[in-house]
Amino acid sequence: MLGEPGGPDLGRETVTIMSEQTIIGAERPLRVGVIGVGIMGSNHARVFAGLPGTELVGIADPDSKQAEFVANTLGCNAVDDVESLLDLGLDAVTIAAPTHLHRDIALACIARSVHVMVEKPVASTVEEGREIIDAAGRAGVTLMVGHVERFNPAVEAIKEAIRSEDILSIAITRVGPFPPRMSNVGVVIDLAVHDIDLIRWFTDSDIVEVQPQLSSAVAEREDIALLQFRTASGVLAHINTNWLTPFKARSVTVATRGKYVMGDLLTRQVTECFGFQPDGSYSMRHLSVGHAEPLRAELLAFLRAVRTGGAPAVTGEEGVASLEIAIRCLAARPTAAPAERKSARAVAG
Ligand SMILES: NC(=O)c1ccc[n+]([C@@H]2O[C@H](COP(=O)([O-])OP(=O)(O)OC[C@H]3O[C@@H](n4cnc5c(N)ncnc54)[C@H](O)[C@@H]3O)[C@@H](O)[C@H]2O)c1
Repeated sequence: MLGEPGGPDLGRETVTIMSEQTIIGAERPLRVGVIGVGIMGSNHARVFAGLPGTELVGIADPDSKQAEFVANTLGCNAVDDVESLLDLGLDAVTIAAPTHLHRDIALACIARSVHVMVEKPVASTVEEGREIIDAAGRAGVTLMVGHVERFNPAVEAIKEAIRSEDILSIAITRVGPFPPRMSNVGVVIDLAVHDIDLIRWFTDSDIVEVQPQLSSAVAEREDIALLQFRTASGVLAHINTNWLTPFKARSVTVATRGKYVMGDLLTRQVTECFGFQPDGSYSMRHLSVGHAEPLRAELLAFLRAVRTGGAPAVTGEEGVASLEIAIRCLAARPTAAPAERKSARAVAG
């Protein structure tokens, strides 16, 4: 299927010896590849294939049927492993293989001085994420993490609307049906990590307190999560996410001292209420929202960082910081297993 699908560094302090990054001038196209061309990677390949100043050289995926399909559609090379792809001579890659492979694949690419865009979550564990950051720093290559929601024009409009506002609270809903292909992670690592990143980005602050409620109603891992947070800047935030809603919904509301901003991330409608009066009246307006494809904007930002050697829009440290909070949510509260819930109901009833 080939359809459309930074804030400050708040991560752990690390002491890394940074190498100078080689700047690639605009006089030649960037040679790029994609590793793992399933649901997400095939979209990265599609977008890369259409970017100016960029040549999609090849894709790597051990699923040769899928690899051939994507390569034939886009007119590039298909190989079945990472080293063969790197042998084609690349400047940059997206890594969209399953998350548990991100560390090994990223380290292999970085060892060949190839710039990496790693899909979210950056890795399976915080330690693995930090290994990627350290290796990229030592090699002087760009490392960006694929928190694509930041490039959703509705999210950008919300961020702009709350700039310089005193933010009080944020509530995010991200619900829908089970994904067509279940991976080995639950709804917190798969979905809530997007919103943890948004909360950190909207507030320019770190999350310091987590209060998670998790349940596994159908799946083995958690498929419902209600997560509450407090940021270092004092903002209260809430994420409601699950795989048990028959339709997709993605919404953000932000309350500030002077505004109430509501955004639908799917329809891309963003509205703000402002001018609160003592008699309870207020004004309301729809904000102008762009139409860019988020993934295209994300990959353009990545390639800009590759070309200039500047900081990427979503750093490895930010990716690890969001993963760390997601893992804290999982560690903080055991998930109620279906069997436990059934026996609790039997006792109650
Ligand atoms: N940013 C987002 O909104 C978003 C959305 C979906 C998935 N993702 C992330 O993208 C990654 C992939 O998820 P997906 O849903 O596309 O999974 P998927 O299962 O659809 O695709 C993964 C692909 O990787 C291939 N693969 C397996 N081992 C490989 C290897 N050693 N080398 C190269 N390819 C290999 C598989 O054959 C498969 O085609 C995950 O990290 C996931 O969290 C991000």
